[in-house]
Amino acid sequence: MWGGRFAEGPSAIMREINASIPFDKALWRQDVAASKAHVAMLGAQGIVSAEDAAAITAGLDQVAAEYAANGVPENWDLEDIHMTTESRLAELIGPVAGRLHTARSRNDQVATDFRLWVRDAIDQADAGLKALQVALVNRAGEHADSIMPGFTHLQTAQPVTLGHHLMAYYEMATRDRSRLASARDRLNQCPLGSAALAGTGFPIDRQATAQALGFSEPTRNSLDAVSDRDFALDYLMAAAQIALHLSRLAEEFIIWASQPFGFASLPDALSTGSSIMPQKKNPDAAELVRGHAGRIIGSLTALMITMKGLPLAYSKDMQDDKPPVFEAASLLTLCLAAMEGMVAGTTFRTERMRAAAELGYATATDLADWLVRQANIPFREAHHITGAAVKLAESRGVALDALPLADLQAIDGRIDERVFAALSVDASVASRASYGGTAPEQVRQRVAEARLALGLE
Ligand code: ARG
Repeated sequence: MWGGRFAEGPSAIMREINASIPFDKALWRQDVAASKAHVAMLGAQGIVSAEDAAAITAGLDQVAAEYAANGVPENWDLEDIHMTTESRLAELIGPVAGRLHTARSRNDQVATDFRLWVRDAIDQADAGLKALQVALVNRAGEHADSIMPGFTHLQTAQPVTLGHHLMAYYEMATRDRSRLASARDRLNQCPLGSAALAGTGFPIDRQATAQALGFSEPTRNSLDAVSDRDFALDYLMAAAQIALHLSRLAEEFIIWASQPFGFASLPDALSTGSSIMPQKKNPDAAELVRGHAGRIIGSLTALMITMKGLPLAYSKDMQDDKPPVFEAASLLTLCLAAMEGMVAGTTFRTERMRAAAELGYATATDLADWLVRQANIPFREAHHITGAAVKLAESRGVALDALPLADLQAIDGRIDERVFAALSVDASVASRASYGGTAPEQVRQRVAEARLALGLE
């Protein structure tokens, strides 16, 4: 009826739009493991004979060995990893292969496989974050006393220590790891046995398959189990937050490595040269970490939009859950490794950092605080007096502590020579010894606690 053009066309397009094997072949290990757990349970429950269960198990092991050796064949007619594996199993062991799919459906199968895959991705992200934390605490310990300008609005604000600055990212990574841990907790229920959507009439043992696959329990509602992708979203939310943190850290390194700052020289191994400007060493890895955050956050957005408005239970839209998760996971692994290397391998130019802290009137707050403490002046008035001192120092092009006492006294007669002890950057950071403050003694305590938490001591 549609003529020659369409006699072939629609089925070719259907095959192509339907096929998930080009990407879901990444699930083959999980698919084989879940099938083995399922058939072992079918055998134990007497739903298939012990003999058939053994034949299927041996066949699955052979399919897995073939995949490991030669990769997973991509035949669009077989749609996905589940049908690809079952069809190869049938080639190997004959019609008995058809018993494997008793009391299950691809809907609970894919939900199970994907949970297993995401669980591994969570563990991998956690390991990457831990390695980054180790690099951060090592460098923070080295630089508990190194003074740098602390910024607000990227304007010099108050002196801080580099160790304190690096430990800020340690804290972010700690929160990221706790997000991953709670995502893992919620994920760890087994959908297998929910079948297509309503459960099954066969006397299956869901506790057994859940346990065999390392889940803490079976899911409790079959409709939810086959249509839930919260576990993937939980992972992507955590990944997006991690990527966001990594991009902030990457941006710090990019700024620090730029010549006008000159705070850091990035590792050669994570930089590139310019094909035209011989003097250049570009922070490409850090820039790509910053850039990849966009793609990881985009993955989260993509899957949220795929899932919104889907009625219960499974719909084919959900096949699109995998590419964003796969992409986010491989980018995240790379970004974590890059930033770990960046933190571990960067040379910090502590003399430049210190000089910048001294130049930027970073101790102006210390002068104001001194006026409050020593001369009992209300803070707002002290702020005003200090502003005048900064203005004077700026007009002379000198640091605050280089102003002669007489000039400071001309601004406010209540200032005396004890003020100079408060105006050095060292005195400034040492004074900020409130819990969680930048004082070297505080930083050393946080580093020691972190080293214990990481199992380094
Ligand atoms: N390839 C499918 C997916 O990834 C497997 C589930 C197919 N289920 C179905 N009822 N067609 O979602």
